[in-house]
Amino acid sequence: MSDSPLKIGVLVSGGGTNLQKIIDEIAADALDAEIVLVASSRPDAFGLERAKKAGIPVLALGRSYYDAGTADPTIARAMQDAGAEYLVMAGYMRLIGPEVFAAYPDRVINIHPALLPSFPGAHGIQDAFDAGVKVTGVTVHFANEVYDEGPIIAQRAVSVREDDTVESLEERIHATEYEIYPWVLRRLAAGDITLGADRRVHVANGE
Ligand code: GAR
Repeated sequence: MSDSPLKIGVLVSGGGTNLQKIIDEIAADALDAEIVLVASSRPDAFGLERAKKAGIPVLALGRSYYDAGTADPTIARAMQDAGAEYLVMAGYMRLIGPEVFAAYPDRVINIHPALLPSFPGAHGIQDAFDAGVKVTGVTVHFANEVYDEGPIIAQRAVSVREDDTVESLEERIHATEYEIYPWVLRRLAAGDITLGADRRVHVANGE
């Protein structure tokens, strides 16, 4: 375990329930981390309200930043200024640009509500449900410049039940997300996660 909390910056676009779970775990001393900044790709993202309520600084980027191509340099600079060591995407529905990866090489992680490489994109739960798979799940991975791609850190399977609706499946997927993301962040804070030269992730004290 390192001596000081892991400093993370969180990127959101929407409701921020995963962000809330991370905030709660930190408050409960169950995660040795500090959220130094929450950045949103939408000024109206409810995740920003959750951050403000927890006293976390926020950066709200509207469409004009993205249209002008200034969002990624702005994010990279603000996260570095805030002292973030890792960037944690929690429902961030934008592709991360090269400026951010230059500032955070192999230090951006993402959560996706399906078992990647299956069902990438913005509708992972619905797409898996529509495909009729019997098992789907949640993936946490290092992000790269392709949406929902990059070395996999951890996955959890979620069975699709006979009587599932997309809503009931979504509920179990989210419950699984709220377990796996804090688990990965705990391992990260403990220095247990390494990315090998073969681009495979090794998790010490894993499962
Ligand atoms: C989560 O289910 C996350 O896995 C998903 O967005 C949701 C955000 O919910 N991300 C993706 O689909 C990325 N491709 P939240 O804002 O309530 O945490």
